[in-house]
Amino acid sequence: MNATAPAKIILFGEHAVVYGQPAIAVPVSGLRATATFLPGPNGSGLQIRAADLGAVLPVDIESGLVDNALSITARMVLHALGCAPPDGIINIESTIPMASGLGSGAAVTTALARALALAVGASFDSEELSHLVYEVEKIYHGTPSGIDNTVIVYEKPVYFVRNQPLEILSIGKPFTVIIGDTGQSALTRVAVGDVRKLVESQPERFNHTIGAIGEIARRARAAIELGQTVQLGPLMNENHHLLQGLTVSSPELDTLVQAALDAGAYGAKLSGGGRGGNMIALAPEDRIEAIQEGLIRAGAAHVFVSVVGLC
Ligand code: PMV
Repeated sequence: MNATAPAKIILFGEHAVVYGQPAIAVPVSGLRATATFLPGPNGSGLQIRAADLGAVLPVDIESGLVDNALSITARMVLHALGCAPPDGIINIESTIPMASGLGSGAAVTTALARALALAVGASFDSEELSHLVYEVEKIYHGTPSGIDNTVIVYEKPVYFVRNQPLEILSIGKPFTVIIGDTGQSALTRVAVGDVRKLVESQPERFNHTIGAIGEIARRARAAIELGQTVQLGPLMNENHHLLQGLTVSSPELDTLVQAALDAGAYGAKLSGGGRGGNMIALAPEDRIEAIQEGLIRAGAAHVFVSVVGLC
């Protein structure tokens, strides 16, 4: 019995989304977290095995410890479903780089919650599951906007505004995004906290930046819905520039962004919390390989290609 969940990228609006501005995120279905339940003998209890983390975790439903995201998730799922832990092992595997802006944590939580629900013969609707994943994200990320759990649980492109009803975005014409991983992990929580300090220290200046990022996301939405892919390039460049102003880029991200532009991308920007992690480039069909090569030459640890808008 297995269940999966995809990675995600933020196309526009990270950080500003924390302040109520819109953001656009899409699933990356080729990178996934998978949780597999293997039934065990009666009375053997439930264990979670995360091979990538080298961890084996017994699940004690009565424990109140804030110990590990996986055991917390399992306890929350069982409480929500009103079930005792099933006997067996849940194996977690993921092809999503960790702590790099691709939503690895939310994807693992989602896959685990789905597999555990299946194991006890239950299931979640997407709204319920998204809420549960958000609660787990909150423990580890402070004040997440909710964009990661939403795009990952629904596995659809979203136009996301904090505390507003979900809007699924329709894609006028599919387009190709190249994801370049700096190979440097970075904590979103730290970047979000630093942005908050900036906004509090110079509200006029930085609220203006945040409003400008929101305006870009609104214009990008219109271009995406109309299939005007080329118009997204300059919007991405402008968004990256504004994120640099919020101090969440890094020399490595800037190098990869420039390399993608030099190789013919329509536009490029960091994606996610920044300070490391991933950048994305919008690729004309005839420049996909050149951009991948350019990113590797410029030092990318991994490069992924994802087509947005293919069902
Ligand atoms: O989780 P990440 O690194 O993809 O980035 C989250 C996006 C932020 O806007 C920086 C934070 C948030 O909670 O929306």
